Amino acid sequence: MNKVLFVCLGNICRSPAGEAVLKSLTSGSDYLIDSAGTNGFHDGEKADHRMREAASRRGIDITSISRQIKAADLEEFDYILTMDNSNYANTVKLNPKYESKVHKFCQYLDSNFSDYNEVPDPYFGGDAGFELVLDLLENGCRNFLKQVK
Ligand code: 4NP
Repeated sequence: MNKVLFVCLGNICRSPAGEAVLKSLTSGSDYLIDSAGTNGFHDGEKADHRMREAASRRGIDITSISRQIKAADLEEFDYILTMDNSNYANTVKLNPKYESKVHKFCQYLDSNFSDYNEVPDPYFGGDAGFELVLDLLENGCRNFLKQVK
């Protein structure tokens, strides 16, 4: 069983989408997949409706409820995939002895996405930002699974 945690800032856009994309690619088997945010501002909320709608158009169902990451998550999960550099730094800081489990998601992207060192936060932008997040997540998650297998 591989335990994978996606991490972004609010846990309402990028990381719940990552969780849903990886779940759709694994059908749930052999993987425990979750997501969390480095801030707790949206605790208890569903994912942003724009993210849910964009995913739904690709046949991906985002069902997670926002929660804040905690230090114990770094002990619990095997792979902690952070969406941007700030998420990475804030996650490592929570429990530095597990730094080796914390990864920048963009390291898994194909070379045609090499312009992206971070998954851009779509929250304050338009629809294209949500589509880009899903393009990056679908590509990186496929490569992540190839590496883990
Ligand atoms: P996320 O996006 O980190 O991908 O969930 C954001 C959601 C909310 C806010 C920022 C980013 N916010 O400032 O409320």
